[in-house]
Amino acid sequence: MSPESAKRRVRLTPVNPASRWPDIDLQPGDTKTIGRGSQANVVLEDPSLSRLHARLTLEPGGVLRVEDLGSTNGVMINGSPQPGALLKADDVVGFGFVEYTVLIREGTQSQAPAPTISDQTIMRVSVSKDAALPADKVVLEALLATSRELMAFGDLPALLDRVLDRLQAIVKPDRTAILLFDQTTGVLTPRAVRPRGAYTSVSQFASSTVIREALSSPDALIISDPMSDPRLQHAASVVQAYVRSAICVPLFGRAGAIGALYADRVGAAEDFTPELAQYAAAFASYAASALETAQLYEDRERHFRATLEAFAKAIDARDPYTAGHSERVTKYALTLARARGLSDEDRETIRRGAMLHDIGKVGVPDAVLRKAGPLNASERAAIEAHTTTGFRMLQAVPFLMEALPLVRSHHERWDGHGYPDKLAGTRIHPHARLLSVADTYDAMTSARPYRGAIAREEAARRIRSESGKQFDPAAVEVFDLVEGEFHALREGTSVALV
Ligand SMILES: [Fe+2]
Repeated sequence: MSPESAKRRVRLTPVNPASRWPDIDLQPGDTKTIGRGSQANVVLEDPSLSRLHARLTLEPGGVLRVEDLGSTNGVMINGSPQPGALLKADDVVGFGFVEYTVLIREGTQSQAPAPTISDQTIMRVSVSKDAALPADKVVLEALLATSRELMAFGDLPALLDRVLDRLQAIVKPDRTAILLFDQTTGVLTPRAVRPRGAYTSVSQFASSTVIREALSSPDALIISDPMSDPRLQHAASVVQAYVRSAICVPLFGRAGAIGALYADRVGAAEDFTPELAQYAAAFASYAASALETAQLYEDRERHFRATLEAFAKAIDARDPYTAGHSERVTKYALTLARARGLSDEDRETIRRGAMLHDIGKVGVPDAVLRKAGPLNASERAAIEAHTTTGFRMLQAVPFLMEALPLVRSHHERWDGHGYPDKLAGTRIHPHARLLSVADTYDAMTSARPYRGAIAREEAARRIRSESGKQFDPAAVEVFDLVEGEFHALREGTSVALV
């Protein structure tokens, strides 16, 4: 035998690359049985196969042999039934109706000179900060475009999408994903995937071993032939998707690793090259910084929202009769905002303003706030002051600037007889006009010290009767559209997030 044939490895790959069948790899000296039964080394669960259908042997000298083990539907070589045969490159062998192409690979390793090769499967490509810019014009343009545009995204989901768009253009993978460490739990989680829904956990990737390996240094990793590596061949992704080649690049932010970029090719695709891994790594360095910023922003938003909710609960806790008022009013107001077709930004402003609209009540004495009987003039003034007190409390908070009109003006009336500024008509901020309807509906349908809850139909009738008086007619028209949703929210039968 020649030295070359002694190093020969063989892969049989499904003729139909979109099929669910795995590649079959053989090293010199290997024997593998193929069949439908679980006793076979390679299980192909297709009714056209017998339980133990055929045997493949790669002899130490490099000769590949197939034998029919008495199957019902036989072994076909290039369309002809054969009880046994020697196979050569590009032969098509059929086990029942499942067809494979024979690929012969001389040698066992890539001969690429630049990268440091850790082993046959996982190749480490060092990424030097001083490395020359990529020579490929398309890639260079993509990288430059990326560096300009990524920092402009403050919204993490949109940024994740754009990063995957750009990665797609650079490395042309079949599947891609961005994994980020969850800020709260520290768990590495897929945050964006292509195709959508392809993965929901790290273990569905080529291997969590690979991801861990990638995060251990700034190097990019190329994974080739994971099916031939005992560390990887049982990984769910490898088995289910027949991963041929994968790139995994760590994402390092200012404070350390924030996650990883992953891309793979499946079926009969070509392996990724070290150059592509280096491009992906250059791209990842831009992406990491933008992602870290967006992630911090998202994190800040989440904490901020939790703080608002805590404030809202604290306000409502002052008065047992108003338990849950701010939360319900927020849901009603967001329902109106959605029906009005307002933008995401406007809805976020309304969420903040509605959550905090009564925060100024912290300045109203309990004796007044909880008084069951009629209020005298000074008590009424103390209650009404909650709008201006709340406005002053929040005035210094930059994130709440847009929400201030809701806090100050939610008791203004369309006819100009409201408070604190006696604004009328369109001089009242449109968000405050919506909030006024939401607030009044909840006040009417909740019990008060001085009266029971008003039935929802009666509350709706009173809102309609105040169109053009207390309320903006356009806001009442929107209420008419979503009255049923208000009732469902009131009864707790709606779980919809608005
Ligand atoms: Fe109020």
